[in-house]
Amino acid sequence: MARIRSVRRHRSAGLVVLLFGLLAVGSAYAAVVPDPAVADNSSQSQSIEEGKKLFAVGCSSCHGLNAEGGGNGEGEMAGPSLIGVGAAAVDFQVGTGRMPATQPGAQIPRKAPAYTQEEIEALSAYIASLAPGPAVPPEEAYDVSNATDEQITRGGELFRTNCTACHNFAGRGGALPNGRYAPSLMDSTPKHIYQAMLTGPQQMPVFSDQVLQPEDKRDIIAYIVALQNERDPGGFGLGRLGPVSEGLWGWLVGIGALVVVAVWIGAKGMKAKGSKPPA
Ligand code: HEC
Ligand code: HEC
Repeated sequence: MARIRSVRRHRSAGLVVLLFGLLAVGSAYAAVVPDPAVADNSSQSQSIEEGKKLFAVGCSSCHGLNAEGGGNGEGEMAGPSLIGVGAAAVDFQVGTGRMPATQPGAQIPRKAPAYTQEEIEALSAYIASLAPGPAVPPEEAYDVSNATDEQITRGGELFRTNCTACHNFAGRGGALPNGRYAPSLMDSTPKHIYQAMLTGPQQMPVFSDQVLQPEDKRDIIAYIVALQNERDPGGFGLGRLGPVSEGLWGWLVGIGALVVVAVWIGAKGMKAKGSKPPA
């Protein structure tokens, strides 16, 4: 008792108690949370199982029971084999709502996704388990929140060289032969932009990492995001003075134009008066 009291009285006792507390919480946590490596493995195979089931229900009618391609006849659209397309293609196709396709047409349109992100991950894990293919890129590969002006400018140059032929210089999209089109990029998320380059849906070429290195892809994304932000300068942006400066410009240009017109009318009137010989 005496010893405890003296410890308690000691100035650093509080710190010791705190350290012990942290240690206790830490080891309790370690005991409760399973080893991440083990957890990852079993959740991975669970995810593949889950994806296989989802695939059988929602995708196999067109892509075949084992994703080998085909379809089961009778008015069903045949889908291509998905062996080796990789998780990135599945995440892109299902995440942009293109898949599951609902009706035949020149091109399967983008729509609201029919699956949750967790289900999409399961479907992706299943397809990736069949054969190697492009993986879903890690978040830092397409995080452009800290992009510098140089990166955006460089991305703009790469965009003009590689993308504008189909998607238009402002990323608004454009028509292609046979009723097909390159869609507008104004609502594309950075992840989907990365995956579109990686997997080349439909008429779009694949831009492998040899053609456009990961930094190139990231800079292109930074440029597209800058275009997207430019399009709607309202937003909640605290740092964006878009509407103010635009309003000011409009005002200056508008007034300027009025002044020019007034001067022109005045000058024309003078000239007309001056040149017309008195009757
Ligand atoms: C109604 C038929 C149909 C259904 C259902 C369907 N697909 Fe497809 N899928 C297609 C067709 C057709 C294409 C080729 C599209 C194209 O080239 O535009 C395609 C293409 C794809 C691709 C792109 C392959 C590549 O080479 O990049 C992926 C990935 C895909 N489908 C995944 C799925 C998944 C996952 C599901 C279930 C959630 C699904 N599809 C359901 C018909 C279907
Ligand atoms: C030869 C024409 C062509 C070129 C070049 C091209 N694309 Fe595409 N792109 C397409 C077509 C066509 C689609 C639509 C595919 C579909 O619907 O399955 C598409 C789709 C996309 C999408 C998906 C849009 C969405 O959110 O639904 C993105 C993002 C994209 N392209 C980005 C790019 C970028 C970035 C480049 C340059 C590095 C590029 N594309 C070059 C034709 C092209």
